[in-house]
Amino acid sequence: MADTLLRHLHLATLEAGSDYGAIRDGALLIRDGRIAWLGHEADLPAGLGEVEEVDGDGGWLTPGLIDCHTHLVYGGDRANEFEMRLNGASYEEIARAGGGIRSTVAATRAASEAELFMASLRRLDALLREGVTTVEIKSGYGLDYATERKMLRVARQLGEARNVAVRTTYLAAHALPAEYAGRADDYIDACMAWLAPLADEGLIDAVDAFCETLGFSRDQVERLFRAAQQRGLPVKLHAEQLSDSGGAELTARLGGLSADHLEWLDEQGIAAMAAHGTVAVLLPIAFYCLRETKLPPIEALRAAGVAMAVSTDCNPGTAPCSSPLLALNMACTLFRLTPAEALAGMTRHAAKALGMQDEVGTLTVGKRADLALWRIERPAELCYWLGGEPLWQRWSNGRMVGPASR
Ligand code: NIG
Ligand code: FE
Repeated sequence: MADTLLRHLHLATLEAGSDYGAIRDGALLIRDGRIAWLGHEADLPAGLGEVEEVDGDGGWLTPGLIDCHTHLVYGGDRANEFEMRLNGASYEEIARAGGGIRSTVAATRAASEAELFMASLRRLDALLREGVTTVEIKSGYGLDYATERKMLRVARQLGEARNVAVRTTYLAAHALPAEYAGRADDYIDACMAWLAPLADEGLIDAVDAFCETLGFSRDQVERLFRAAQQRGLPVKLHAEQLSDSGGAELTARLGGLSADHLEWLDEQGIAAMAAHGTVAVLLPIAFYCLRETKLPPIEALRAAGVAMAVSTDCNPGTAPCSSPLLALNMACTLFRLTPAEALAGMTRHAAKALGMQDEVGTLTVGKRADLALWRIERPAELCYWLGGEPLWQRWSNGRMVGPASR
């Protein structure tokens, strides 16, 4: 494959140190799917040989976006519950009537693998149209072996069907299925038993759980996480979303990749995350949809130097959204991140949240050429516009794969 030279554009490298790591009037060379050179166009090395040139027409090139926390494989939707709530029903009433996570579990169990694939592909394509080149996808709407496996298989198939890197996360400990009512410890045992064959099949890249009074206790999560780590799998956690359960502290102490949500995170949790380099994954769309009022402790996380990632949380209950750009906007408008922080949150820090920081997340020589080219005049526009389809081109593994699907 001939080298590709992208020129007449500006680079937002997102490397640590300065706001966007901006290089105006830049150029970037792709060789063998990797970034081989970048810098000011005026400094282009001589004797590049034969290259295929792409004229960036003054746009901005960023690392491809990384959506590091999604539940985008699921059956059905929960639009009916949205409507019920606006007609006066409470979450509790809906849950008692078999709604909430349990209704998505029922729909996901009922869907065939092909149906699940087609429904999820539409959501994935929406992410790609907004510049995503890496996406994490969780299981967790199966809550039985066969359906957890089906979800993870579909996630892998999505990665094969499109030019995008998919990281799968095993989230069987998302909720207690009805058949285990009153037996949460037994259910955690089952999650641990299912882990081995699913990992052997190559379906699991990381393990997650929902640590909450509604979900699982710290001790239950710790048991599951230790089993994951024995198999060499990294862990991450839905933590401190609705109350302070100490889940972030546990995850940090175990060397986990990230703790996610974090509205109720306390000082101790922040200190542990800072000490262990655990990424804080912020999910402003879920905060918005649940009409939360308690903000995650952004200022304290910033002061402690905890890396903050931003993600869609794409799921049918609390974030029916497949727009990473909307998540960037809400990270700024609701959580008061600066646009530079938000964009680092969906590139450099999101890569770290997936343990992929040596491979993707910044424009750096040697990293994979996963890139997004935008029709914008300044990087802050990626957080500023609501809609508008600013993506121009996407590269995955050094291949130009267009703004849309494929
Ligand atoms: O990330 N917090 C738990 N899980 C999802 C929502 C699950 C659902 O309601 O379907 C979340 O917000
Ligand atoms: Fe989530």
